[in-house]
Amino acid sequence: MVARVIAVEPFIAVVFGATGDLASRKLIPALYHRFQDGQMPPEARVLGVSRRAMSDEAFRGFARESIHAHVAPADLIAETIEAFLAMVGYQQAHADSEEGWPELAERVKHPGRIRLFYLATGPALLVPICERLGRFEMVGDRSRLVVEKPVGKNLGSARAVNEAIGLVFPEDRIYRIDHYLGKETVQNLMALRFANALFEPVWNAAHVDHVQITVAETLGVAGRAGYYDTAGALRDMVQNHILQLLCLVAMEPPTSISADAVRDEKLKVLKALTPITDGLTTERIVRGQYRAGASEGGPVPGYLEELNAGQSRTETFVAIRADIANWRWAGVPFYLRTGKRLAGRVSEIVVAFQPIPHSVFGTAAGPINANRLVIRVQPDEGVKLWLMIKDPGPGGMRLQQVALDMSFATTFNVRNPDAYERLLMDVVRGNQTLFMRRDEVEAAWTWIDPILDAWSNSPDLPKPYTSGTWGPSAAVALIERNGRTWHEDMS
Ligand code: BG6
Repeated sequence: MVARVIAVEPFIAVVFGATGDLASRKLIPALYHRFQDGQMPPEARVLGVSRRAMSDEAFRGFARESIHAHVAPADLIAETIEAFLAMVGYQQAHADSEEGWPELAERVKHPGRIRLFYLATGPALLVPICERLGRFEMVGDRSRLVVEKPVGKNLGSARAVNEAIGLVFPEDRIYRIDHYLGKETVQNLMALRFANALFEPVWNAAHVDHVQITVAETLGVAGRAGYYDTAGALRDMVQNHILQLLCLVAMEPPTSISADAVRDEKLKVLKALTPITDGLTTERIVRGQYRAGASEGGPVPGYLEELNAGQSRTETFVAIRADIANWRWAGVPFYLRTGKRLAGRVSEIVVAFQPIPHSVFGTAAGPINANRLVIRVQPDEGVKLWLMIKDPGPGGMRLQQVALDMSFATTFNVRNPDAYERLLMDVVRGNQTLFMRRDEVEAAWTWIDPILDAWSNSPDLPKPYTSGTWGPSAAVALIERNGRTWHEDMS
């Protein structure tokens, strides 16, 4: 199957932090793929910006390396790479001085072209860069700002950042990126829920027992320990990616998939989250920190060794029982879990339905498990619906659990594009549906802040867990306390 590609309008993408990790691993390869698929018009330009002194040619060398390192061998076509690199240039500029800015302003002057300013820098540089973009008159009607998470460290600082960037760019030209929203399976949540009549009638407390959202990683924080130690799993993953997934599962059907219709519904979910305040944190939340262990076949150091510190209160794992106080979800727990250096890399959403009210089968049929809908975000993207089926053959009515299994890789014979490919082109197209609006980010912090406060008032340290396991045993107890278990693939 060939993916349909619609070329976008001519644009210039100005990437701040162009020599950093995100640009190299994600942004440059994503733009290359869009070029390769014919989506970038010939007038498109990519301008890397960072404080490093570098010529256009040297930056093209950096971009070439990043393409070779992060694009699958089948897509490495020398002529295509060179044609793409011919669109790429570089400008040195300092976020906190005027150096390089007049030259930058000169280079982005392409009348009529969409200007996309992508701030792939540390959070502290967002505001100074924005201010200078304004001061050097680079912002016009066709300019768009893309900011990476985290926006702020808590509600107060997020508001301050939003205020400051709002002085330069109006809200409808600010794209707060949460790359989870650009993942194919995450977008499929909307298709699954709103393009099928089957699920919506049972998508509520009368039929759903609980929901699980797991984002597990095998990687540690090596190389990013400096940033990570100021963030932790709650700010790095829950405040954005996991709460966004929760919103897409829990929101009411929007009136359309226009940006504001979807974001209005997500906002209502965030506002309905029951606050987890001081008294509830120990019962509802488990935080952990990895120790040395084994991961992917080899020994790995613990978090403190990677950080090179004797002690840290930063959590690398968090499991939470969240509740949504509205008519649809009252009484349905949402178990959220994320961590580094866990036993496997898996992101999935499990909608666990209620058990049947009464069994007509005798004990010989075996246990009748409740249905589960599993949306596998990564890897092995797909959707599984676990059902009870009769065991084939004679021998009476014996039942077993079997999945209706839709794997994207086997159903669609296309490359699964990286989230950044979709999101970058959405910015050029001016489509904000998959980006976070200011009020969403602030509502998410409103729920997160009391947890951070409770932790900072508590003498407890995160619970240690061995790398290569599923986190502290307390996370198992968190869900088992309510008579449920974390989902394990039953195939
Ligand atoms: C980022 C976090 O937003 O998401 C990282 O800052 C995390 O800590 C990453 O590793 C996970 O993204 P993905 O797409 O690899 O699941």
